Amino acid sequence: LISLPDIEVSKLETVTTDSPKPLPSSSQLVFGRTFTDHMLTIPWSANKGWGAPKIQPYGPLSLPPSATVFHYAQELFEGLKAYRDESGRVTMFRPDMNMKRMNTSAKRVALPSFNGEAVIELLKELIRKDKHWIPDIPGYSLYIRPTLIGTQAALGVQPPDEALLFVICSPVGPYYPTGFKPIALYGTTEYSRAAPGGIGAYKLGANYAPGVVAQKEAAAKGYSQNLWLHGPEHHITEVGTMNTMIVLKQADGATELVTPPLDGMILPGVTRDSVLTLARGHASGEAPIEGLPSKLIVSERPITMKEVKEAGQNGRLVEFFGTGTAAVISPVDKIGYLGEDLHIPTGEDGMGPVSRPIWKHLVGIQSGSIEHPWSVTV
Ligand code: COI
Repeated sequence: LISLPDIEVSKLETVTTDSPKPLPSSSQLVFGRTFTDHMLTIPWSANKGWGAPKIQPYGPLSLPPSATVFHYAQELFEGLKAYRDESGRVTMFRPDMNMKRMNTSAKRVALPSFNGEAVIELLKELIRKDKHWIPDIPGYSLYIRPTLIGTQAALGVQPPDEALLFVICSPVGPYYPTGFKPIALYGTTEYSRAAPGGIGAYKLGANYAPGVVAQKEAAAKGYSQNLWLHGPEHHITEVGTMNTMIVLKQADGATELVTPPLDGMILPGVTRDSVLTLARGHASGEAPIEGLPSKLIVSERPITMKEVKEAGQNGRLVEFFGTGTAAVISPVDKIGYLGEDLHIPTGEDGMGPVSRPIWKHLVGIQSGSIEHPWSVTV
C-alpha cells in the first residue's frame, strides 16, 4: 500500500496580488460581505493525494459545471475568527477544534481528510498576509472560512476523485454593535433540522440551505430567528445556526445551565464547548469566573419545550441563549410556541446572570486580554 501525500506546508507557493483593494470603512461592514486580498487553495486528487498549497489573490474559482459540489452537495465548511490585541498580536481562537470537526465532516460525506496541523500553519500564513484587514477596533475580527468541495466532473453519485480545500477571510464587526439585543424566536414545528443517523452533527452546507425557509417563515411571523424543535415532544435542539443554552433555577436554589447533548443531531459548536468548559471550570472550583452563581450545575441533557414552558410559569426560567462563532452569545427574550409567546427574562444589558460573566470571560480570552491556551498566536 502506497500512502499518498498529505498537506505539506513546505510546498506552499505564494502569489501576491498586484492590485490590493482599499480597506473598507469598519463601521459599514456587514457580516461576510467583504473579503481580503488573498485566499488559500489546496487541490486533492485520488491518485496524487494533496497537492501544493497556494496563497493567491482572492478571486473566482474555475470549475466544470459537472463538478459534484453543484449536484450532490459535496461541500463542508468551518468558521473561526482571528483577533488582534492592543499590542498588535494576532491570534486565532481554538483552530484545532475547527480542523478536527472539518475532518469529521469530510469523512461523513466521503471527501478526503487531511493533516489539520498543517492547515493551521497555512491559515497562519494567510492571516499574516492579510492581517492589516483586521479592523483595529475592539470587538472586530477576521472571520475565516475554510471550505472543502468535491470537484470531479462526474454525475455519478460516488466519492469524488478530485476535491479542493480553500480558505477565504472576511473582516467582521461585532454582531451587536450597539450592545446586546435579545432576539425573539419562533419555535419551528413544521420542519426538522436534523434526524437520527442524519447529518445534523456535521458542518455541511446541506444543513443550512433548508434552514433558510424556516428562518424566512419565522421572520414573516415577526420573529428574528427560528428555534428548531425535534420530535413529538418538541425537544429543543438549535437556535437558527447556533447551539442552545437554557438556564434554570432549581428547587434548592442551585442554577442549572442546560444544553442538548451531542446525540448526533446537534452541531458540536466550538463556542458551545467553550461555554461548557468555562462553566464546568467554575462549578468545580478549579477556575472560578467572577460573577457566576456559586452553585452552578452544568448539564448536557435532553430538554423539551414543555419543561421550558413550565419553568417559565414557575418563575424558574432564568435565561435562554444561543452560542456560535459569528455572534458568540445571542440572548433570547421571547419564544413563539404553538400560538403563544413565552417571555424570558433578560437584564438591562440584554444578558443574564450566567451568560454575562461567561461572555465577558470568553471575549477576554478571544481578544487577548485574558491569557489562555485557546488563543493561538499567528
Ligand atoms: C455561527 O457562527 O453561528 C455559524 O454557524 C456561522 C454561520 C454564518 C453559518
